[in-house]
Amino acid sequence: MKLIIAKDYRDMSRKAANIISAQMILKPESVLGLATGSTPLGIYDQLAEWYRKGDLDFGQITTVNLDEYVGLGPDDEQSYHYFMKKNLFSRVNLREGYSFLPDGRNPEGELECRRYTELIRSLGGIDLQLLGLGHNGHIGFNEPSDAFVRDVHMVDLTERTIEANKRFFTSSEEVPRRAYTMGVGTILLAKKILLAVSGSQKAEALYQVMHGPICPQVPGSVLQLHPDVLVVADEEAAARLPKEDR
Ligand code: F6R
Repeated sequence: MKLIIAKDYRDMSRKAANIISAQMILKPESVLGLATGSTPLGIYDQLAEWYRKGDLDFGQITTVNLDEYVGLGPDDEQSYHYFMKKNLFSRVNLREGYSFLPDGRNPEGELECRRYTELIRSLGGIDLQLLGLGHNGHIGFNEPSDAFVRDVHMVDLTERTIEANKRFFTSSEEVPRRAYTMGVGTILLAKKILLAVSGSQKAEALYQVMHGPICPQVPGSVLQLHPDVLVVADEEAAARLPKEDR
């Protein structure tokens, strides 16, 4: 894993956006894997600004998101569809029909997981996957557990994740209990991975991801197996990492 340390959240966002924009310039028809949550907000702001200034073109880009809550439709303000539309899709020139997320309204869980796995495969795989990191080391909604799950699957969210995500809802009761997510195998198939991490509350998780044992109790640790991972972390998130990493 290659580590890039940023001063703060703003610097982390600019550096990560630069890496995504380099990917888009090198391969204008890239398939970008995207994430939601608070970490990528600054990255999406930066990408939208560069598009607005005429420096970046999404005209041939395809996007696939990591995850979506089960039960929420695209018009539901708490859905990841809505989040992506608001924070990125509506602000840039992505083509209609070239941005994909799991369908949270599909009650046929197994069918939906197979459909999304197959969809990613049919796009030729992901060129660059952007990831955030959960406090408990989760990536996508791959929560700590006793085994890794390879493909897109349905998960029960942990209490800690429900608690962390309730800031986007009016109360924790409203946070859906289940989600569709890419599996760790789906994520590892991406050609390149960009892990963006910010804040002191992620420092221990980042240390475990980079230096702990590769184990399903810290799902992000599986990234140690990938040949092309770039970690962009701000000083606070990188605080636990040993000197030789810097
Ligand atoms: C979001 C996702 C999650 C988040 C993680 C960190 O699509 O897959 O794994 O990346 O929960 O969330 P934030 O950035 O809100 O701290």
